[in-house]
Amino acid sequence: MPIIFDSEKKIFKLDTNESSYVFGVNDHGLMIHYYYGATVGDSDLAYLAARWGLSGVQAKPHYSVAGDMLNLGTKPLEYSTFGVADYRPTALKIKAASGQSATNLAYISHKIYKGKPDVEGMPETHAAENEAETLEVLACDEVTGAYVTLFYTVFENLPVITRHCIVENRSEKAMNLEAVYSTNVDLQGDFDFIHLWGRPCFERTFEREPIGHGSKTVQGLRGASSHFHNPFVALARPNACEDFGEVYGFNLVYSGNFAATAYRDSFEGLRFIMGINHEDFNWLLEPGEKFVAPEAVMVYSDKGIGHMSRTFHKLYSKHLCKSEWMTKKRPILINNWEGTYFKFDADKLCAIAEKASTLGVELFVLDDGWFGARNHDRAGLGDWKVNEEKLGCTMGELAKRINSFGMKFGLWFEPEMVNPDSDLYRAHPDWVVHIDGRPMSVGRNQLILDFSRKEVRDYIFDSMCEVLDNANIEYVKWDYNRNFTEVGSAALPPERQKETLHRYMLGLYEFLDKFIERYPHILLEGCSSGGGRFDPAMLYYSPQFWTSDCSDAAERLFIQHGTSMCYPTATMGAHVSAVPNHQTKRITSFETRGNVALSGTFGYELDATKFTDEECEAVKKQCEEYHKLYDVIHYGELYRLITPFDGDRTAYAWEFVSEDKNEALLTYVLLYSRPRVRRTVCLKGLDPNKTYRDEETGRTYKGSTLMNAGLNFIGFEGDYNSKKVHFKAID
Ligand code: DGJ
Repeated sequence: MPIIFDSEKKIFKLDTNESSYVFGVNDHGLMIHYYYGATVGDSDLAYLAARWGLSGVQAKPHYSVAGDMLNLGTKPLEYSTFGVADYRPTALKIKAASGQSATNLAYISHKIYKGKPDVEGMPETHAAENEAETLEVLACDEVTGAYVTLFYTVFENLPVITRHCIVENRSEKAMNLEAVYSTNVDLQGDFDFIHLWGRPCFERTFEREPIGHGSKTVQGLRGASSHFHNPFVALARPNACEDFGEVYGFNLVYSGNFAATAYRDSFEGLRFIMGINHEDFNWLLEPGEKFVAPEAVMVYSDKGIGHMSRTFHKLYSKHLCKSEWMTKKRPILINNWEGTYFKFDADKLCAIAEKASTLGVELFVLDDGWFGARNHDRAGLGDWKVNEEKLGCTMGELAKRINSFGMKFGLWFEPEMVNPDSDLYRAHPDWVVHIDGRPMSVGRNQLILDFSRKEVRDYIFDSMCEVLDNANIEYVKWDYNRNFTEVGSAALPPERQKETLHRYMLGLYEFLDKFIERYPHILLEGCSSGGGRFDPAMLYYSPQFWTSDCSDAAERLFIQHGTSMCYPTATMGAHVSAVPNHQTKRITSFETRGNVALSGTFGYELDATKFTDEECEAVKKQCEEYHKLYDVIHYGELYRLITPFDGDRTAYAWEFVSEDKNEALLTYVLLYSRPRVRRTVCLKGLDPNKTYRDEETGRTYKGSTLMNAGLNFIGFEGDYNSKKVHFKAID
């Protein structure tokens, strides 16, 4: 049984295959956290939560007695609340009708059942009845009449616990939810904070720093999970590294404003909370209403950062995306954006597609610029009417021509946006997110449509259907290119304005649910000026996401490395583009660009009509390799061998190993060539006793040799040179 309840001692123990999570309830209903870490055999771990009391400075609950150590400021708590002697960052803050904000939860009851419940209205991980077990704990704040249900789902075969909560107003007066975080974990001792910071064209950069006393927060306040901070954090013991040590990974299944705070208190306790950012958030909860907080995923690893990542990868590959494409083989695509930008007609597009099709490319994607007055980024967004004059044909005819080359056809949309210079905006200026009387900031010359409003969503949905229903479109790229400013909705009363951003997310999720239901066979690729909304919530709908607008192979190593912390290879959009690279002006070889893009969904982003004969041969070879290596890359396990942050920081190497350990692919990229440097790389994850053959040279090695002695990349000079070594077990 993954979840047990000791009714005598009132203790819950949640066991995954590799971890235990234990908390209990005191006689007054206070939920106290005892332990989260590697599997333990006992459940009565209450002794671990004993803390010295410093009464006066640190207040105690009214029912405490002298010497009982019930100090709420230092006690590890299961789900902390604001204003009742816990001075750390707290998970729940409710403002009562009286205007005051203290909240105190007491346990009432619980349920334990097989499977995993839905997180109503929001993306979530899923599990069959026999794959998970769920604990629901009901608690209430007697003074406000707020009832809180805490959900914990324990995956049986993965070290994963997911959490979310629901707050219900069972009183007769309205209350304001000022903060409702999805998870709260109170740990103990030294940790490093690992997070993924970034900027457009440099998303999800790995950073690790020791947690000192006080708070360390990463957050989004842009209305999107953003390029700047991803809703992922890992707390790693200082001695933990890629392959050893304790690491706790957290990821929020949400695409809007989020916050993740680690707070090291003065008594060496470490609280971590993650959820919707409480900054600029308020939710008015009328009597009888419920508020659902998004799901947080928690992964425990006592085998280092690599094992944490592989656990996330397995979870997201099998238990997240609802699209049939998550398990279907993805086509090799070519996208015209960097090849033509806005300058094209059907003949130009068909010339690119036809050329690419002869080399093995399977899907042609028409990017921005095919609709309304969209010949630049200053007009046309929102007007999803095919510009037949520009194309020289209808979309149906263009799709037919592309299909005649044996290719699938895909199309770009940016459904959530509108240019002020568009028919849609002229007809409905109040449909955008705005504050009456306040000038609107623009981002990329565009405004955001208020997706919290059904009529707005319905209009866009219908206009997209009109296009999709009249051409054979098998792929959609869903873009999103600016962040929120002057947040307000014309459809909400003043007391609900601070709900706009979350209502927007709920509207977006409803739209995407409807979209997938109507077009279950369309392959949806998410995008947000590159990877500005690369999060598990978007991956619930789109099995792949354009990782970054930086398509330079060297920069992509850093970006894909950070992204791999929790997102599987099969979700990372990665393309070969032209050189000099449009973003960095760097020149890398065609081979290296291919080797880096192969560790993603793979495709091209250039004008294929400009290929030299040599490049044509290279594309043919890469397309063949894509098919040959697809299974090991897309279904294998990722091992990071040398990261761009290790050693002399001049090389990067990673490896995929098939689940049965019969196949492995190592990719090595030299970033910066230095003479006479020892360049030995040891593989990981192989079977030490199997014999592996290098498929190119035929040379054989024992798995133990490859893992302990390694391969020597000496004589392999030249900046950005790269090499793949493909192994197959022969015994
Ligand atoms: C931003 C995306 O990241 C690009 O790939 C491209 O689709 C442009 N938008 C088009 O405007």
